[in-house]
Amino acid sequence: MKVKLMIIGCGGRGTGYSKYALKNPERAEVVAVADPIPERRNTIGDAHGIPEKFRFHDWKEAAKMPRLADAVLICTQDNMHEEPAIAFAALGYDILLEKPMAPTAEACKNIVAAIKKAGVMFAVCHVLRYTEFTRRLKEVLASGAIGDIISIQHLEPVGYWHQAHSFVRGNWRNEEESSFMLLAKCCHDVDWLRYVMEQPCSQIHSFGTLKHFRKECAPEGAAARCTDCPAEIEGNCPYSAIKIYLRDRLDKGQIHWPVDVLTHDVTRENVLKALHEGPYGRCVYACDNDVVDNQVVNMLFANGSTVSMTMTAFNEHTGRLTRIFGTRGSIETDSNTITLFDFLTNKKTVIDTAVKNDGGILSGHGGGDFGLMDAFISAVAERNPSKILSGTDETLESHLMVFAAEESRRTGKVVSL
Ligand SMILES: NC(=O)c1ccc[n+]([C@@H]2O[C@H](COP(=O)([O-])OP(=O)(O)OC[C@H]3O[C@@H](n4cnc5c(N)ncnc54)[C@H](O)[C@@H]3O)[C@@H](O)[C@H]2O)c1
Repeated sequence: MKVKLMIIGCGGRGTGYSKYALKNPERAEVVAVADPIPERRNTIGDAHGIPEKFRFHDWKEAAKMPRLADAVLICTQDNMHEEPAIAFAALGYDILLEKPMAPTAEACKNIVAAIKKAGVMFAVCHVLRYTEFTRRLKEVLASGAIGDIISIQHLEPVGYWHQAHSFVRGNWRNEEESSFMLLAKCCHDVDWLRYVMEQPCSQIHSFGTLKHFRKECAPEGAAARCTDCPAEIEGNCPYSAIKIYLRDRLDKGQIHWPVDVLTHDVTRENVLKALHEGPYGRCVYACDNDVVDNQVVNMLFANGSTVSMTMTAFNEHTGRLTRIFGTRGSIETDSNTITLFDFLTNKKTVIDTAVKNDGGILSGHGGGDFGLMDAFISAVAERNPSKILSGTDETLESHLMVFAAEESRRTGKVVSL
């Protein structure tokens, strides 16, 4: 069966997932889109030959029609997931929903209740569960190679420029407008750690602060925009927008993310205009950001195993770094290579799970974006929910862990789950 898809929100994620259908035309077809920005909906609309009447300005228009597709991909911003998810579930669409499900625990529960009531297929884009790396790691753990997991040390190195782009200047900088940092960036990590542990979490605790991207940390004499900043200050600032978007990327021929977030048509002229006028040209010390730039989370699992997790902006943007300590061996990984140390033989084994990055979104997240789409399309085509690794219950559980960690960060208390 060829699965008919409707895409709600034709930004970075919606556009990326739409390419699955172009690459696998025998498996999926995009038949309708919705986005208020004409260039965005028309880029997907034109690429997929979608008739004008199925290119909607708002998801609400699409929801007024009888069911147009088998499944809907909801790729709007974080605080615009709940309403369309509930509406399209009631219309009988199978749903692929971007993470986070929603910014509050109550909204997440509302979504799960609506999905269960409608009895539709549902997956949240916890792409890390669908990578080749995770599949191999789970295989190694299931083989007993390191015995029982006692503890895990996990680092999410957000990256200095990625933090500046998304969480200081960009869409996820301000909690009121999107969601708090742990939910926006690390619901993936918390979910992945729960998936690896195969145990419910019983207690959670967190500290985190916005330590650096604050007005008082600005160098003396810095301007509110990088394009207005004195050359000696701009040239010495690692977070300069001119450095991040022009010198480090466009000037080297890189036109994809994050540069294409600044302008739909990536030309030097358009990027410069965006730096002069738009949010991405602002000094990182003069933005309306309030989400944390560093956070630690400690977790105690039901079987007594523990996890310590760190999210921090201040590093190179690399894959997540994880160490897993077991009773018979340990593992170190960079999300590509799994290095296994066996206590009995004192030998190391290295497993390389890297996937070729073709620069497209579907090779993104270590192939997880493709893996997720492929699993979801199979689930819908075969009416087989077991293909989905991130359905209602597991996703709600890991989201509730994130909300509990954030409650701890705010109150200073250990939170029991
Ligand atoms: N799974 C992942 O790893 C991952 C990675 C990045 C982002 N995300 C999540 O994906 C979601 C989308 O992120 P993005 O980077 O694509 O954002 P984006 O801002 O590029 O895209 C969102 C789109 O929704 C459109 N939109 C707004 N109102 C709408 C309406 N009423 N009807 C239809 N469309 C509407 C916007 O115009 C925009 O084009 C977010 O929730 C984000 O947190 C997930």
